[in-house]
Amino acid sequence: MKFFIDTAEISEIRELAETGLVDGITTNPSLIKQSGRDFIEVITEICGVISGPVSAEVIATDTAGMLSEGRRLAAIASNVTVKLPLTWDGLKACRTFADEGIATNVTLCFSANQALLAAKAGASFISPFIGRLDDLGVDGMELIHKIRTIYDNYGFETEILAASIRSSAHVEACALAGADVATIPPQVLKSLSRHTLTDKGLASFLTDWETTGQSI
Ligand code: E4P
Repeated sequence: MKFFIDTAEISEIRELAETGLVDGITTNPSLIKQSGRDFIEVITEICGVISGPVSAEVIATDTAGMLSEGRRLAAIASNVTVKLPLTWDGLKACRTFADEGIATNVTLCFSANQALLAAKAGASFISPFIGRLDDLGVDGMELIHKIRTIYDNYGFETEILAASIRSSAHVEACALAGADVATIPPQVLKSLSRHTLTDKGLASFLTDWETTGQSI
């Protein structure tokens, strides 16, 4: 499973990129707002650090507007993926971009039928939002399982990009369900490395080593 980082904070992206764990980045208008920076400037900077796909989302809600904004975003760098909302107009823009060879991430997916439409429209990625479904008391992971089955049934090449991830349990469940990508907030990615038995074991190894009086 590929790891994308769900942030527009360049300092976090630089730090995490050093681990070699980052396969791409996703942003959305709310994350751009949080960064407090100019949209085009921040996407340009991220693309200079990360060579994998970098999702940049359109704001227009009509197909013509999405095509115009998407082309501007795609011109920033060859690894920009144009993020489009899962609406009728978004699907039409998705088909045009697919025909033009421009990568797309169809976002705000909350049902298996929406994911089926996005795949048929030629989306490069589909972004089902797990956490936001969980917030409503609906099992978000169930949606990942359904999309995996549908895409495998028909050989769709659209990659399942599990989004709205809130916990390490979500990451593990996505990997077990066969999501192609998980887009993970930085603090959740860091939490994946932690285990109390790792900390406890390391402390006891270091204590024992100190009593040997040796050095390496
Ligand atoms: C990523 O592409 C999504 O925009 C993001 O994961 C949404 O996460 P949230 O539901 O925590 O805002």
